[in-house]
Amino acid sequence: MKDILTAPFMAEMIRTCTNMYDHGWDERNGGNISLLLNEAEISEYGDVKRALRTIPTGFETPELDGKYFLVTGTGKYFKNVQYAPDVNLGLVKIIDGGKNAQLLWGFADGGKFTSEFPAHMMSHASRLKVNPSNKVIMHCHPTNLLAMTYIHTLDEKAFTRTLWQMCTECIVVFPDGVNVLPWMLCGTNEIGIATAEKMRTARLVVWAQHGLYGAGADLDEAFGLIETAEKAAEIYMKIAHLPLVNTITDEEMHQLEAHFGVKAREGYLS
Ligand code: 13P
Ligand code: ZN
Repeated sequence: MKDILTAPFMAEMIRTCTNMYDHGWDERNGGNISLLLNEAEISEYGDVKRALRTIPTGFETPELDGKYFLVTGTGKYFKNVQYAPDVNLGLVKIIDGGKNAQLLWGFADGGKFTSEFPAHMMSHASRLKVNPSNKVIMHCHPTNLLAMTYIHTLDEKAFTRTLWQMCTECIVVFPDGVNVLPWMLCGTNEIGIATAEKMRTARLVVWAQHGLYGAGADLDEAFGLIETAEKAAEIYMKIAHLPLVNTITDEEMHQLEAHFGVKAREGYLS
């Protein structure tokens, strides 16, 4: 039986946490990631065969019963994941209709999964209904997107259109746009339910004055989605106070749709 620290998914998770920290998206313990794994992927690793302890979740997600997730720990720093993955990450199996999670590996200092576990698990359930290959929910605090939520209307159509107009490829990368939640108390079931609802129609959900959620089929895809939206927000923050001379027109967006075979969110282009 192999050591789970040699698993490709573990290497990718560690690299992603480090990369997100290096991008400045995850100060201190900011941000959290959950990666859905299937039984075949983890079966060759001997150290995940028995439950170390059971952790109550405080909510229910029957759709996820029996599913395995590699998830970041609450209060843990992304900066440190590479040095002590077994302390900062945990592998859990969802049981009892989502009411409990069995810890199979990790959280070696007695820790537990992120405080945003409700938003993660509920969003997984939501995205899996739209796209059965969705495996990743990723949350972070990207500087420019966060800044944008202080000066831009939070209207989802307007927010999406502004981001699309900032870089040519935005509409190609996130044609479903971004959904936006107003400020809400984080780490609660309520923000979890609201996020999961928003995840039904878009893979990016902004938490105003807090950060961003992204979903994807793998870590690279979720990361790339956030990276693209954050780049657009960065350009917006560089130009928002300047007179706008040029933009990407809706007619040009339609050309992008046709050329790249994507369909922009219904009603978002004229
Ligand atoms: P955790 O340390 O519990 O993952 O919380 C970080 C965070 O970003 C809360 O929104
Ligand atoms: Zn956060």
